[in-house]
Amino acid sequence: MTRVLVLNGPNLGRLGVREPDVYGALSLADLRDSVARWSGELGVDAEVRQTDDEAELVHWLYEAVDSGAHVVLNPAAFTHYSYSLRDAAAMVTKAGLVLVEVHISNPMAREEFRHTSVIGPVATGTVAGFGFDSYRLALRAVAAKA
Ligand code: DQA
Repeated sequence: MTRVLVLNGPNLGRLGVREPDVYGALSLADLRDSVARWSGELGVDAEVRQTDDEAELVHWLYEAVDSGAHVVLNPAAFTHYSYSLRDAAAMVTKAGLVLVEVHISNPMAREEFRHTSVIGPVATGTVAGFGFDSYRLALRAVAAKA
């Protein structure tokens, strides 16, 4: 079965309480439930993780490469400046695995510093601006491409 790591960066553990006007009222636990349902429908094996730690996120991308898992990645604020995460993400796509960058909000419609993604150029593709549905669309893209 196609394996997918659904990886989430800093502050996404606070979904539901953090800026609900931007990110909605649902929590990370709700996201886990939705991903479990969607992955069942798509016939993929998806695991949701979240960390505030850049090194841990980098190591999860190594794990994806070593185990042949595809990746749905919400890099959160690391999107905009983390070259270490970018280099690790490049290893995933260079290994022939799919990596979809996702965002709950649409960073292009927000502050200027969010308009730059250092991850986008090494991702397979990006889905942004559809709330939690961004993850569903990303999982569909992985299932279709993997
Ligand atoms: C985000 C957008 C980022 O700019 C922000 O730093 C986040 C969340 C999103 O999902 O919309 O933490 O990645």
